[in-house]
Amino acid sequence: MTTTHDSGTYRPPAPGRPDIRQRTLRQDRWWLPPLANALGLATFVVYATIRSFWGSAYYVEQYHYLSPFYSPCLSASCIQDASHFGQILPQFPPWIPLAIISLPFLLAFRVTCYYYRKSYYRAFWASPPACAVAEPHGRYTGETRFPLILQNAHRYFFYIAFVITIINTYDMVIAFQSGTGDAATFGLGLGNIVLLVNVVALWLYTLSCHSCRHVTGGRLKHFSRAPARYWMWTQLSKLNARHMLYAWISIGTLIATDLYIALVASGTISDLRILN
Ligand code: FES
Repeated sequence: MTTTHDSGTYRPPAPGRPDIRQRTLRQDRWWLPPLANALGLATFVVYATIRSFWGSAYYVEQYHYLSPFYSPCLSASCIQDASHFGQILPQFPPWIPLAIISLPFLLAFRVTCYYYRKSYYRAFWASPPACAVAEPHGRYTGETRFPLILQNAHRYFFYIAFVITIINTYDMVIAFQSGTGDAATFGLGLGNIVLLVNVVALWLYTLSCHSCRHVTGGRLKHFSRAPARYWMWTQLSKLNARHMLYAWISIGTLIATDLYIALVASGTISDLRILN
């Protein structure tokens, strides 16, 4: 037997499932979370894309604030002082982002993230749009075929993102130095706090990753034989329970950090100095 939903979408009922003709029986505003997710993710993608290609206002020379969207800055086109790891790459034309080495991997890390997958599958592909709401697609093939099978590479992007988070941490520590050369001293400004909060958020997001949890506690047959790994796995599991929260917080801190640095670097505002 076949049925037609009230939306007009042809959908044969799955074997053993009730023949419900409405798209959903939910009475609540189930469309609100996918809508909010779509707006939040779209805002981040648009902002990150524009800023990555902007090519200026990414570094405050006096206080060594480097935007996370430009780290590591390895091209000869970078401001020399912003290249904390040298300029091993040649000059880039303006249409290549200065952090081309890290950005594709960070993007892949977020795109393949288990939480973001749920989020954008619902928000953009309506697959399904929400729990107990029928999706418009006639067939479900999951992540077993190209291109979605590539989602399984998430663990490898996790390894790279882990290294990049270490680099972001280094950038944050360097920024506690104010001035250059022999005149450099310890300094503390609002920019340092912004960078610090961002790095904490990035670590919470990275360490709460499902792949990180698997790296520490996966493939173990007996936790009792690996007490250190078991302890780490237990702690990371606590973080993992809040992965969605950290995913959104880290998006917010990335935008806030880059925006603050862009405003200070362009001279639009001054850094609020606390020390030196
Ligand atoms: Fe979200 Fe790995 S599951 S970053």
